[in-house]
Amino acid sequence: MRIQANYSLKQYNTFKIDIKAKYFVEIEKQSDIVVLRSDLQLSSLPWIIIGGASNLLFNTDLEKVVVTCRFKKIKIVKEDDDNVWISVGAGLGWHELVEYSIENNLWGLENLAYIPGTVGAAPVQNIGAYGAEARDVITRVQTLNLFTGEREVFRNSDCQFDYRSSIFKTDYKNKLLVHRVTFHLKKGHAGKANLYYSQLKEALTKYKKQELTPKIIFDTVIELRKKKLPDVKKYGNAGSFFKNPIISADYFKKFANKFSDAPYHKTINGEYKIPAAWLIESTGWKGKRFNKNTGVSQLHALVLVNYGDATGKEINQLANQIQEDVDHKFGIHLEREVICI
Ligand code: EPU
Repeated sequence: MRIQANYSLKQYNTFKIDIKAKYFVEIEKQSDIVVLRSDLQLSSLPWIIIGGASNLLFNTDLEKVVVTCRFKKIKIVKEDDDNVWISVGAGLGWHELVEYSIENNLWGLENLAYIPGTVGAAPVQNIGAYGAEARDVITRVQTLNLFTGEREVFRNSDCQFDYRSSIFKTDYKNKLLVHRVTFHLKKGHAGKANLYYSQLKEALTKYKKQELTPKIIFDTVIELRKKKLPDVKKYGNAGSFFKNPIISADYFKKFANKFSDAPYHKTINGEYKIPAAWLIESTGWKGKRFNKNTGVSQLHALVLVNYGDATGKEINQLANQIQEDVDHKFGIHLEREVICI
């Protein structure tokens, strides 16, 4: 375990916001929590959990204990001729896990390649891309109670997975630390490509004479993401800042009458999902600077960017302005995917 006081989190959040945590604690084993809780100073402060902080926006210095998990081991827990179940430490980088699955020719994670963040954040946020979501492959989530250190196990159906949400982001936020996640993957001969997302299907047409493999999908997804999303190593950002809004069938009729060129996707509940990126681009924000330090990416209108030494407040102001403009033009409220602290 490592404890650091007044510690800058600049390298620990993909927005690259320079704020300090009163204490930054890296947990390496279950008993660390009990040891930390026995310290009066630490125990009297609020605790928050971060993974790769690829979905967080820090506003000010944190008078808090910021906890992160450093368990990184991958263990095969069960396998048969067609399937493998692997249990993975929450501190492992998400993309490292996807690479492991590809090296072993396993299906299930290839559409989720190149997403920043950790394995522990995947169930919290139910990360998703290119027609796949973490909930499709997660079978169990093991957590540690941040007050007692006790272990709790959640089956997939206990996790209340939803679009970019789960019970760990709602009821158990900052109460349960994700410790290990179990994934059910398919062996090379037993799985098949998920081509639900039309852009991915189109990008794969050049392989039409070849049998698709997890590696081909993985490479294609990385290519697509690199084209559309600014590189977090160059420009601080947190991927999609807002969720794609879902509107009722009634409101959609009025909306589509006025904005007939708007793309949409009908949900299984008969509602309509409108790409937030289209709404933002249509208000003129794509590629626009808000001030010297912040703006909206020219590659993708859903991505807010820290171009220099932006503060969390500046990015928040930009986000508020975008919400206001979209509200005003379309009567649709954009909900944030990124959590502001
Ligand atoms: N579009 C625009 N302008 C843009 C970009 C997109 O008008 O600048 C429109 C286009 O009509 C496009 C549609 O928006 O067809 C959808 O765009 P895209 O395929 O890029 O997907 P998205 O809905 O904007 C979602 C996820 C991404 C994920 C992609 C690919 C959310 C909030 N975002 O974006 O996830 O990578 O699909 O599956 O659901 C993330 O959560 O951080 C993230 C990057």
